[in-house]
Amino acid sequence: MKVPDHLGIIMDGNGRWATSRGLDRSKGHSEGLKTTRRIVRAASEAGVRFLSLYVFSTENWKRSTEEVGFLMGLVARHLEKELDFYNALGLRVVHSGEREGLFPDVLRALDRTVALTSSHKGMVVNLALNYGGQDEILRAMQRWSEEGGRGRPSAGELRRHFDAPILPDIDLVVRTGGEFRVSNFFLWQTAYAEFIFSQKLWPDFTEDDLRAAFREYAGRDRRFGSAPPADARGAVHMAEVRPRPHG
Ligand code: IPE
Ligand code: IPE
Ligand code: MG
Repeated sequence: MKVPDHLGIIMDGNGRWATSRGLDRSKGHSEGLKTTRRIVRAASEAGVRFLSLYVFSTENWKRSTEEVGFLMGLVARHLEKELDFYNALGLRVVHSGEREGLFPDVLRALDRTVALTSSHKGMVVNLALNYGGQDEILRAMQRWSEEGGRGRPSAGELRRHFDAPILPDIDLVVRTGGEFRVSNFFLWQTAYAEFIFSQKLWPDFTEDDLRAAFREYAGRDRRFGSAPPADARGAVHMAEVRPRPHG
């Protein structure tokens, strides 16, 4: 089965998972992290080569200080203690997002994991942390012009200035949590991505749900703007033909 080369996941619904159980939102985030760990493994085993995970958006600073603090601590602790996990699966970690604003312990843990996994040849795990698609495009423009760029960059020049230039465009975006929106997730790189929206809240998302998403993806007809093949065009045409009254 054809799996996406670059999978993006908008891991949404942690808060609702917790509050619907009368728990604190933070409990939803810890539970969501367990799901992330399982899904990272499943994606790697399925043959995904690049996995972009939306961990914290540039807009998520609007949340309470407690929630932001908890999320940052959770990420830092995870990175500090899970190096074995990344090593065992041969995963290479990269970061997309604005460094400024991230707590020092998070940056330290992130830099360490990125450095210590940089020679790994397995799946690339791109952590979108303090990430916004608009923000990344603006920062790429800025870096390009600081390097002497004049006028406007070509698409290729711009993407070489993105946060993690080794990443190809995203093939499939899976968003859990029942919302039908992009929420500033890799706006440029999803230009021709397929989208699958799941009603499940992220802590409830399973390896089977991931496999179901891959099956749906494998059945999608990606055209990138070209005309459908002649036989498919014929099928659509025939289906649209209605008997006409004569005379
Ligand atoms: C996604 O879950 C995790 C982050 C945004 C960090 P949410 O925290 O957005 O959960 P809901 O959408 O409020 O349920
Ligand atoms: C997107 O979820 C960000 C992450 C999953 C990290 P949000 O919960 O922040 O998105 P909105 O606010 O519902 O659009
Ligand atoms: Mg949400």
